[in-house]
Amino acid sequence: MKIKKAVFPVGGLGTRFLPATKASPKEMLPVVDKPLIQYAVKEAIDAGCDEIIFVTGRGKRAIEDHFDVSYELESQLEAAGKYDVLEEVRDIMPDHVTAVAIRQPRPLGLGHAVYCARKVIGNEPFAVLLADDMIYGGKNPVLKQMCDVFDEVQSSIIAVEEVDPTETHKYGIVKTELQNDRVGKLGDIVEKPLPENAPSNLAVVGRYILMPEIFDLLENLPKGSGGEIQLTDGIAALMQSQDVYSYAYKGKRYDCGSKLGYLAATVEYGINHRDLGDDFRLYLKEFVETLDD
Ligand code: G1P
Repeated sequence: MKIKKAVFPVGGLGTRFLPATKASPKEMLPVVDKPLIQYAVKEAIDAGCDEIIFVTGRGKRAIEDHFDVSYELESQLEAAGKYDVLEEVRDIMPDHVTAVAIRQPRPLGLGHAVYCARKVIGNEPFAVLLADDMIYGGKNPVLKQMCDVFDEVQSSIIAVEEVDPTETHKYGIVKTELQNDRVGKLGDIVEKPLPENAPSNLAVVGRYILMPEIFDLLENLPKGSGGEIQLTDGIAALMQSQDVYSYAYKGKRYDCGSKLGYLAATVEYGINHRDLGDDFRLYLKEFVETLDD
């Protein structure tokens, strides 16, 4: 089995970025010159996915439009001879990839958002990517790393990372039995525990490979942490009947659900940008010297 379908839950309100997100989706906030969601979609495509499934909510049309062909724009760019930009615009969605959008009728939680994709996924393993977690994996993007592990284990895999023990209440937290440097067998998973109740400081980050059996479990889940139907609780239920693995990924994560993480991503992607990087680096160096301690 190979992972061909990727689910992007994009129904969230983006309250932490208000007022910027009042009339446009937080997933469309640009990091340098691409919206956040485009980085995650590219990661899925680079990992071999060819069906992109957005689970959307109110006011998220811009995401669907961004991944749709814009004939007008393309013909105008062509007529103007702007071939570089034209190529960038076409590269957003390669021809072999399709996108569908499913509306999540009410924001009932991440577990519910994933459940909304059930009919499109059917009976095959699939990926879930949370665009807020932007992860720089260099030549080996995180979902590709996970697909390589999936080739061996053919079971659900959750990306994890160590966090400060005082921060466990912001994440799903796992207990895992390491099988090698990076892969472990999950023994426990809890959504947003207080530090004193956390089974470890190993946090779930926004990349999952899930077996389709999770849908039956999500369907019957009671509300969990924060009064929402939690994907974490679905995974905890899945663990009762099949192995679930944790994977400590190689890469650097930016929490673009927070302003500070978003700014850090913007600066670091700016510094590494193909056209802009050198000038921006120079600017930053000079600027930092003007700062007081
Ligand atoms: C979600 C998940 C949580 C996970 C986190 C990673 O929480 O519920 O388990 O650790 O994403 O970013 P959220 O950040 O949507 O509250």
